[in-house]
Amino acid sequence: MSVHKDYKKITTKRLFDMKQAGEKIAMLTAYDYTMAKILDAAGIDIILVGDSASNVMAGHETTLPITLDQMIYHAGSVIRAVDRALVVVDMPFGTYQGNSKKALESAIKIMKESGGHAVKLEGGEEIAESISRILSAGIPVMGHLGLTPQSIYKFGTYTVRAKEEKEAEKLLKDAQLLEDLGVFALVLEKIPASLAQKVAESVRIPVIGIGAGAGVDGQVLVMHDMLGMSKDFSPRFLRRYADLHSIMSQAFQQYISDVKSLDFPNEKEQY
Ligand code: KIV
Repeated sequence: MSVHKDYKKITTKRLFDMKQAGEKIAMLTAYDYTMAKILDAAGIDIILVGDSASNVMAGHETTLPITLDQMIYHAGSVIRAVDRALVVVDMPFGTYQGNSKKALESAIKIMKESGGHAVKLEGGEEIAESISRILSAGIPVMGHLGLTPQSIYKFGTYTVRAKEEKEAEKLLKDAQLLEDLGVFALVLEKIPASLAQKVAESVRIPVIGIGAGAGVDGQVLVMHDMLGMSKDFSPRFLRRYADLHSIMSQAFQQYISDVKSLDFPNEKEQY
């Protein structure tokens, strides 16, 4: 299985070149050292320390509760594991909206305390000032449009975004604006494939999709979802590459049974 070209380190420039060369970009989330180590060694291009940690690590219903310090804890754990991938850290809800000075302070704190390589913010025109200010400090920014989970209480549901012409037009305009501001890449979440392709064709920066079809420059999934760790999250866009829920559940049950039946530890497993 050919996984990647033998690039020593993934940089924002490398990602730009990959798009121009038509090489697809593979991105997954990670939140801890052990998983990030396996993922980096497998050849992933970008690791996203997503605020989806709020869901899959902490068990919250939404991404809103996770704090800046908690994101920094996850990001630092990932950074210590990584040799090759570019590590992007989500700026959590409430750390950048409506106050560009606070946004810059939050981004600097992430970069200083976690060692992350870039930050990701959700939104377009509304957060343009925050993005500009962060970029002015030399911090690379990834954009995120379409379904933006930090705005879930505005949307009301996690259904496909930008199906209507007005919202699609705003998304196209926002994508252009983000490119003009200087973001190095853009995530498009859960929008029609035709619109995502149009965006990818209209900007020079790489566009990474999740539930945005095949016409973009790369794909991202939440690691726990693609590993099949949860049985109850099955959106149409998700492909499961393993059934870790069953494998782990069987291992746990076997261990419990071995302890109770005195099978574990045996003579060779003790001193
Ligand atoms: O937090 C996250 O995992 C994300 C991805 C879904 C893109 O933002």
